[in-house]
Amino acid sequence: MIKVAPSILSADYVNLQRDIEMVDKGGAELLHIDIMDGAFVPALSYGPGWVKAIRPITDLTLDVHMMVQSPERYIDTFADAGADIIGVHTEATPHIHRALQMIKNKGVKAEVVINPGTPVAAITPVLYMVDQVLVMTVNPGFGGQKFLPETVKKIAALNEIKKSQNLTFDIEIDGGVNDSTVVPAYQAGATVAVAGSYVFDNDDPVSRIQALKDATK
Ligand code: DX5
Ligand code: ZN
Repeated sequence: MIKVAPSILSADYVNLQRDIEMVDKGGAELLHIDIMDGAFVPALSYGPGWVKAIRPITDLTLDVHMMVQSPERYIDTFADAGADIIGVHTEATPHIHRALQMIKNKGVKAEVVINPGTPVAAITPVLYMVDQVLVMTVNPGFGGQKFLPETVKKIAALNEIKKSQNLTFDIEIDGGVNDSTVVPAYQAGATVAVAGSYVFDNDDPVSRIQALKDATK
């Protein structure tokens, strides 16, 4: 059964605490927090103040996805704000190894992220040091996009490397996840599913979390 990480990008910002408590009680394991800088991706979302505000109201694993150019500039700030996992895009820095080291030095779980156009080969040298790999299943920047099926073979390739090298990182998918698209990704080796619009653009977000779990029993 896949672990579920609702993305607050699609939550109700004026009732954020209500939405977080709902998904927490509803069986989610992580809370996905999308940081967009208006440069690496066009949109602006929210910053470390949100992580700091959310930290005391939930025990969910705070999964911070930095869609930020030169993420090194803000890693310490997000760690100090209370992130449990910090994800950095390999496309956003010439020094992915150093960025991941910085995260680990703060005692936070380190995640490397790849866009749909980036091959798994780009991150094989750093897989030994990460706790989680995020395979983007849409181009990052917006919620509500369609899942790109061609990303599934990258999940499978990553899972092969994971098994052959006896590594234990989680494999997360993000973008266009619903109870259909999650199935091939889970079968290919995904262990964590981010879901934004599928969970929150619904009258009953808890039923959507359960649907993702039921689809991957
Ligand atoms: C997209 C973000 C996602 C987004 C997913 O760039 O990284 O986390 O919230 O939204 P859905 O699930 O609606 O595709
Ligand atoms: Zn995300």
